[in-house]
Amino acid sequence: MVQVNLPNRQATIELGQKLAPFLQAGDVLVLNGDLGAGKTTFTKGLAAGLGINQMIKSPTFTIIREYQSGRLPLYHMDIYRLEAGGAEDLGLEEYFDGDGVSVVEWAQFIEDELPTDYLSLSFTRTDQENERQLKIIPHGEHFEKVVEKWLHDDK
Ligand SMILES: Nc1ncnc2c1ncn2[C@@H]1O[C@H](COP(=O)(O)OP(=O)(O)OP(=O)(O)O)[C@@H](O)[C@H]1O
Ligand SMILES: [Mg+2]
Repeated sequence: MVQVNLPNRQATIELGQKLAPFLQAGDVLVLNGDLGAGKTTFTKGLAAGLGINQMIKSPTFTIIREYQSGRLPLYHMDIYRLEAGGAEDLGLEEYFDGDGVSVVEWAQFIEDELPTDYLSLSFTRTDQENERQLKIIPHGEHFEKVVEKWLHDDK
């Protein structure tokens, strides 16, 4: 587990952007944290890093939004409003095994559906209005390597 301090919104965007080059098709990122913790903000940075030029909107009312204009497709999911049992209808596995990167906000609601390998990112607020703490937990060898490169690359 690694903790990263995010002193402002821009730091969160930049960290997301820096992760993008190390991702590959079929990667799953699970984002947890309260309302306004920074999950979508991080995803915006990630999308920019993938070269996606569309505006990333919170997918709350659609549950899944797809972006195809980057180096890899991005599947951005927000499970917050999912009804109990509704996860089965989403066909999550097809996204997770697919040709893109899946980012799941509020992933704790679909814990049973997650693949064995994923990157867990948990955002928490601090007593500073614009500061967040990010807890990073890689699951599986692939993501251990990804995290190492991501955080040790000082470009
Ligand atoms: N250090 C920071 N990192 C990220 N966002 C920050 C930071 N400081 C302030 N903010 C602000 O906090 C808000 C984060 O909103 P965001 O939509 O990213 O949260 P979220 O976790 O996706 O919430 P939701 O669960 O409602 O989808 C934004 O308004 C952003 O500008
Ligand atoms: Mg969000």
